[in-house]
Amino acid sequence: MERMDYERPGVAETYARARALPDEALDLWRDVLRALVPPAGIVRVADVGCGTGRFTAWLAEVFDAAVLGVEPSRRMLAAAPAAPRVRYVNAAGEALPVRGGALDVAFLSLVYHHFTDPDQVVRELRRSLRPGGRVIVRTTTREILDGFAYLRFFPEGLALDERRMPTRAALRATFEAGGFVAGAQELVHQRVARGPIAYVARIRRRGISTLQQLSDEAFERGLTALEAWCRTLAPEHVFFHPLDVFVFAAPC
Ligand SMILES: C[S@@+](CC[C@H](N)C(=O)[O-])C[C@H]1O[C@@H](n2cnc3c(N)ncnc32)[C@H](O)[C@@H]1O
Repeated sequence: MERMDYERPGVAETYARARALPDEALDLWRDVLRALVPPAGIVRVADVGCGTGRFTAWLAEVFDAAVLGVEPSRRMLAAAPAAPRVRYVNAAGEALPVRGGALDVAFLSLVYHHFTDPDQVVRELRRSLRPGGRVIVRTTTREILDGFAYLRFFPEGLALDERRMPTRAALRATFEAGGFVAGAQELVHQRVARGPIAYVARIRRRGISTLQQLSDEAFERGLTALEAWCRTLAPEHVFFHPLDVFVFAAPC
C-alpha cells in the first residue's frame, strides 16, 4: 500500500498550518471525548501518532492528566509545541516506549491507516494499558468517505482512501482479536468551513495526506473541478466532514 512520507520537507509545516483546529472544533471534541471516557481517575494518557501535537497538550486539559506524545517522524515532532504535563517521544505505535500497564488512555487520531502493522500496535496498546484502560480511535472509515465533499473531485484520492481506510468491522475485529472489548462508537460531524471560498482555501492548503499523495496534476485538476462546483453553492453553505470515534476497553 502507498505510504505517506511525513519526513518529506515541508509536510510537517503544511500539516500544522492547514490542519489547525478552531476553538469551536476543540470544544466539540472535548465534549465527545469526556462523554465517551469520563476523566475521573485518568492520570496517564498517550497520544499515539501525535504528529505536530495538535491534540497533545489539549488532551492534558481534557483529561487533567500527563500526556506522552508518541510520533515516529522527527520532522512532525519538531513542529509540536512544548507544554506543561506533555512529553514527546520519537517512536512508533508498533513499539510503545512505556512499561506494561502504565497507561489509562491511548488516543489515536487519524493514524490507524498509517500503521504498518495494526495487529502489533493493538498488542502494544493491550500491554501498555492498565486493566480497564481505554483506547480512543478517531478515524476515517470506508463507510464515511462519501461525507467528504472534496473527495468527489479527486477520484484518485477517493480510490486511495478506499484502499487504505479500514472498514468499521475490520477495525473493531482487529481490536477484539487483540483482547479488547469494543465499547461505544460515534459518528461526529465537524464543521470545516463556513462558505465555499473558505472550503476551497482549506483544500488548497493540501494538509490532508490523501491530497499530499496525489500528483500535482491530479491535485490541480481536482481543485479546478471543486472550485467550479463551489461557485454553484450559496455563500453561506457550511461544510462538515465526518469522523468515526471508537472506544475499546482493556479487560479488568
Ligand atoms: C494524519 S497525522 C495525525 C496526527 C495527529 N494525531 C492529529 O490528529 O493531528 C498521522 C501521524 O501518524 C504518524 N504515524 C505514521 N505511522 C505511525 C506509526 N506506525 N505509529 C505511530 N504514528 C505513526 C505520522 O508520522 C503522522 O504524524
